[in-house]
Amino acid sequence: NGTFPLGGGKLPFEAIAPVPRTVDTVTVPRGYRWDPIIRWGDPIFADAPDFDVENQSGVAQARQFGYNCDYLNVISDGGNDRSGYLVCNHEYTNENIMFSDAFRAANPKEVVDVALAAHGFSVVDLKRDKQGQPWSYVRAGRRNRRITGHTPFAVSGPAAGSDLLKTADDPTGTVVEGTLNNCAGGTTPWGTVLSGEENFNQYFRGNGSPEHARYGIGSGATGRGWETVYDRFDLRNAEYANEGNRFGWIVEIDPEDPTSTPVKHTALGRFKHEAGTCVLAPSGQAVVYSGDDERHDYVYKFVSSRTFIEGDKEHNKRLLEDGTLYVARYHGNSPAAEITGNGDLPADGAFDGHGEWVPLVRGTESLVPGMSTEEVLVFTRLAADRVGATKMDRPEDLETNPVTGKVYLALTNNSRRTAVDEANPLTANRDGHIVEMVEAGNDHAAETFSWNILMLCGDPSRSTRTYFSGYPADKVSPISCPDNIAFDSLGNLWISTDGQPGTLGLCDALHKVTVDGPNRGRVEQFLAVPRDAETCGPVIHDRDDSVFVAVQHPGEDGSWGAHTSLWPDQLPAGGPVQVGDKVAAPRPSVVQVTRTSGNRSATIK
Ligand code: FEO
Ligand code: CA
Ligand code: CA
Ligand code: CA
Repeated sequence: NGTFPLGGGKLPFEAIAPVPRTVDTVTVPRGYRWDPIIRWGDPIFADAPDFDVENQSGVAQARQFGYNCDYLNVISDGGNDRSGYLVCNHEYTNENIMFSDAFRAANPKEVVDVALAAHGFSVVDLKRDKQGQPWSYVRAGRRNRRITGHTPFAVSGPAAGSDLLKTADDPTGTVVEGTLNNCAGGTTPWGTVLSGEENFNQYFRGNGSPEHARYGIGSGATGRGWETVYDRFDLRNAEYANEGNRFGWIVEIDPEDPTSTPVKHTALGRFKHEAGTCVLAPSGQAVVYSGDDERHDYVYKFVSSRTFIEGDKEHNKRLLEDGTLYVARYHGNSPAAEITGNGDLPADGAFDGHGEWVPLVRGTESLVPGMSTEEVLVFTRLAADRVGATKMDRPEDLETNPVTGKVYLALTNNSRRTAVDEANPLTANRDGHIVEMVEAGNDHAAETFSWNILMLCGDPSRSTRTYFSGYPADKVSPISCPDNIAFDSLGNLWISTDGQPGTLGLCDALHKVTVDGPNRGRVEQFLAVPRDAETCGPVIHDRDDSVFVAVQHPGEDGSWGAHTSLWPDQLPAGGPVQVGDKVAAPRPSVVQVTRTSGNRSATIK
């Protein structure tokens, strides 16, 4: 993450105690402090209106920081530790706590317009006086940009121009209006950002087709009701029957060029994309790992046909147009009878085995009998069903360890798991698990891999179904529902969670996990996010003694009349709704955690 060189970072801390779910603040270790960098509604252009929570509009929101920040990166300008930028996406909106009930009743179309403008991305310049100090955002930075539910996206790859992507607004099937539900992502070696369009199904009213059913697009009215305001969200309209096919892609944006056209890459397939972690194979081919976050869905990777050229960004920005799309099969090496469903280790002492990457499309050629290339790419779930991919416990983020090259996969949970296998060994998997994968020859372009389970999450003091690679269970922080993951420069795995309030009664958290050496499996909680929030990001800049997280959906379980969170402004309820730039409502925000004491771990040259 970022441009900090590898090695030397430490970020020493003593694990914090787990934080009860009703605590409405960010909790960090002794010797650290936290500060919001930017909050929902903060203006990011010279001409942007100041945030006015009681008089919002779509026009204003498109000039302000969006809602529910998720994927995050913080990148300092090369050779300069006093300027940089952050890029994040905005996954979805919580209308119940964004607007008063009276405003929603009186302004139904404006509520939809604010919501569409609050989705997408923000790119915001940062500045500070000195390395190690907190960053602040630049209101009129040269890179500042909003991408929303209306921004035009070009379509790349073999399905661009397909009949399956054409609508009345776009008879060419090559230009899509907006991006929605962008979840985990990644930054490419050429400096662009990838982001997965995840639960796009919720925005559309479907027509009951088998494809809609497989993608979770219901035929009833949606909760948001966008289809009552804009026809394109109602897929029962013949003119817009394919609009839903234009979401569910990996998108690529160039955060350094605010005039660039963002792209949706059809070569990487269409599903509820989580992650979009891009690494180079030894050949120079670009490899992108991505999960499909649904119970019993699959893990994918894409390998480009062409190779990376250092310094040629225009060439590299086209690498994801052409290549091979694979889906994973995981095979265990222990007898099936030894996988009890309760987390008992099999006789060989490990949940482990080998795996295959099964190709679905190579270049423009479909390898799935009975499906065209366009059908495989647009209805990728159906293609993967046909080749017998392994049904996983909700694949979320995938990341590669910068020190060892191993690939880590967060499986967040699967309450409906009944038939177990060695890679998904728990029935009713409440707390999720982490799979470690090693590509053959440590080559990310390989077609086979080995794998093992690093940990079965949970609270070992209250569950017998946990496993921490043999690390003493009484010495780990409880952890549940792993979601976004990241690495520090030493190759430690950092796991953010989404769901601990429901499973453990705890605020969601960021944990550091040792993956190599005698302390493998050790989990140490670094921070907790406020009430009802999910920990997103995270970004670990240990060379800079900094950790960044995107605090998503604080106060989600409340209502305008009864907020459960007032973070971060903490303007007291019962008084004025807004004072200056502070409001009496929760605001998703990007937070940085910096060190206030002790020796600094390293100095950036
Ligand atoms: Fe948006 Fe799968 O978390
Ligand atoms: Ca085994
Ligand atoms: Ca996620
Ligand atoms: Ca999640």
